[in-house]
Amino acid sequence: MLDVHQLHDAFAARFGAPPQLVVRAPGRVNLIGEHTDYNEGFVLPIAIDRATFIAARARLDRTVRVYSVQFSADDAFSLDQIERNPHQPWSNYVRGVAKGILARDLPLAGADLLIDSEVPPGAGLSSSAALEVAVAYALQLLNRLDLLGEELALLAQGAEQSFVGMQCGIMDQFMAALGRAGHALLLDCRDLSYRPIPVSPQARVVVCDSGVRHSLVGSEYNERRAACEEAVRLLRARLPRIAALRDVAPAQLEANADLLPPVILRRARHVVTEIERTLAAAAALEHGDLPRFGALMDASHASLRDDYQVSTPELDTLVEIARSLPGCYGSRLTGGGFGGSTVSLVAEGSVERFAADLVAGYHKRLGREAHVLICTPSEGARLVATF
Ligand code: GLA
Repeated sequence: MLDVHQLHDAFAARFGAPPQLVVRAPGRVNLIGEHTDYNEGFVLPIAIDRATFIAARARLDRTVRVYSVQFSADDAFSLDQIERNPHQPWSNYVRGVAKGILARDLPLAGADLLIDSEVPPGAGLSSSAALEVAVAYALQLLNRLDLLGEELALLAQGAEQSFVGMQCGIMDQFMAALGRAGHALLLDCRDLSYRPIPVSPQARVVVCDSGVRHSLVGSEYNERRAACEEAVRLLRARLPRIAALRDVAPAQLEANADLLPPVILRRARHVVTEIERTLAAAAALEHGDLPRFGALMDASHASLRDDYQVSTPELDTLVEIARSLPGCYGSRLTGGGFGGSTVSLVAEGSVERFAADLVAGYHKRLGREAHVLICTPSEGARLVATF
């Protein structure tokens, strides 16, 4: 990853003039509350200290030129005709954001953008949300649009839903826009109100990338979302006032289990129990009860594996090894699933040893390379430099 001066110089070399500014937007790790956001439930993520950076300069015409350092690839499009580019999937996040700004009838000039990122793609750390929010943040600054916080997150989410085709919830873009240093956010995905909760310095958040990649778009993720909507539709026969699974308590679901086909019941059971676990975990974190927090992470993983069925053998193996190691409070898959990463909460003093043993254990069991990131909760999108 290039530093800010290298980004400046690479931009000038490529586009023939220096950038006006550099922005950053982070990836995220969800501590607990998985597949609850699109059910209007609660999530408890942190923004991480790994980000996507964009050097940017406004243009006088209606052309957007983009270069990705990470993928050594470029793209260009006109603001008057923004379509999907099937050859450069990463560029669709840029195109989608530009289209979303124009759809809000906001004034937008062309731009040159040079992008680099420390967020590994496909690892379940929301590299796509980091990219979308960084693009939106850069364009809003260049065009003085005053699109910030929640609005920025909703714009970025809309770009992913309509332009990339993944019917994602709001969690990832919200964190890329509004993450807070040193804190997890307990986010209510119904009304987007949130409460920052300090992450105890005695615990470290350890992400472990299984090296197995998912392809969420148009596939299993959207199917899970549709199953939740179907559950709500069927439950309304007896619970007419519910708007989302958020409105259904676990006991209510079990009392009405006969309304749902077995697979839909399992999906709904994950969601309603996960919402309860997330609220309990937020309370545990607030009270400094890390063992309780860890136990809830473990239960979350079991529910994602057995009821929601989004885990993989590699993620299950990582979680199993993590839990057997000293200092580990709890471990679970994080993000959408179908590959990607696990997150573990580990006692500060044990973290180096934990990371080494986890990688070694995974290699021994499956012959695969895992990659560990020890993450610090960090802030959302911001301006890094102006020139
Ligand atoms: C992906 C989506 C999020 C959320 C998670 C699962 O990361 O982008 O909106 O639904 O999966 O919790």
